Amino acid sequence: MKLNIVCIPGDGIGPEIVAEAKKVLNKVAKVYGHEMSFTDVLMGGASIDAYGVPLTEETIATAKEADAVLMGSIGGNTVTSPWYKLPPNLRPEAGLLGIRKALNLFANLRPAVLYEELSEACPLKKEISSAGFDMMIMRELTGGLYFGERYTTQENGIRKAVDTLTYDEKEIRRIAIKGFDIAMKRRKKVTSVDKANVLDSSRLWRKVVDEVSADYPEVTLEHMLVDNCAMQLVRDPAQFDVILTENMFGDILSDEASMVTGSIGMLASASLNDTKFGLYEPSHGSAPDIAGKGIANPIATILSAAMMLRYSFDLDWEADAVEDAVRNILKKGYRTVDIMSEGCSQVGCKEMGDLLADEIK
Ligand code: IPM
Ligand code: MG
Repeated sequence: MKLNIVCIPGDGIGPEIVAEAKKVLNKVAKVYGHEMSFTDVLMGGASIDAYGVPLTEETIATAKEADAVLMGSIGGNTVTSPWYKLPPNLRPEAGLLGIRKALNLFANLRPAVLYEELSEACPLKKEISSAGFDMMIMRELTGGLYFGERYTTQENGIRKAVDTLTYDEKEIRRIAIKGFDIAMKRRKKVTSVDKANVLDSSRLWRKVVDEVSADYPEVTLEHMLVDNCAMQLVRDPAQFDVILTENMFGDILSDEASMVTGSIGMLASASLNDTKFGLYEPSHGSAPDIAGKGIANPIATILSAAMMLRYSFDLDWEADAVEDAVRNILKKGYRTVDIMSEGCSQVGCKEMGDLLADEIK
């Protein structure tokens, strides 16, 4: 297969971890006989420094022509970086929101998996974590509060800020369909999360999800209020298979779920549109405090590359090979510092990339 991949190394540890993901993808290409080309483009802080804006039309156009986009991470230290002195629409994060919207990436998949080898890192009590867990958070990514009308004003000398949460049934239906499709490939359970006891948008969400579920008789659907879900994630995470939710709830719950695994450096993500196209990035941020030190964990980015192989290119064998390599290397006791535990061998970012690439044979 001939694959044209656009890379956004981004800021902070982004360039280091993307380099290791490319290394692993190149090895996959060699072993399985694919032709992969990589084109780097700037976004976020790196784009601000080069062009004065976090996302250029050219970056969008290059990304649109690609078969898929692989991203590192964007953004810097929000207190000390000069990027955060800029108006909000010119900061690094605006680039990320802009590309999500421009590429219509409405479906965000965030797996949260407790790896057996890393169960020590799980902050939950043993009796809860021993069951293990493997859930997929499906977050709507181009609607809701993030993209609703917002403004700040003054009324009679009183400052006032407004953000609006809007969803139409089409936006809900398309993410729900993706959620049920993914559940069909997993344990066939969808937990739809909303705040239907308060919000109109949530009441519509619930209705449309119910309608979609009629087409998936094999999938068990349950509705859960978001505050309860936040609690259940730490009380009994094993109950979840697919969590389907709107943009803001998904932002918050996916951070919680990743913390519960204890190893955010391991968690991948995919953002998909209604074709096979997707943008793949680790669930973690740009970690500016450790950038350039060679100690970042590249595994989340490498697992994101595996998701790219699976969801954009239908290369399931190749994706399995990358995921198996990660499991094997963990079994052999290699760890980056963020997941280090006693008796294991600590390696840096590059070494971890080398080990994983060598493991693909
Ligand atoms: C995420 C991040 C972004 C979001 C920020 C950086 C705008 O937190 O991808 O979860 O809120 O969507
Ligand atoms: Mg977030």
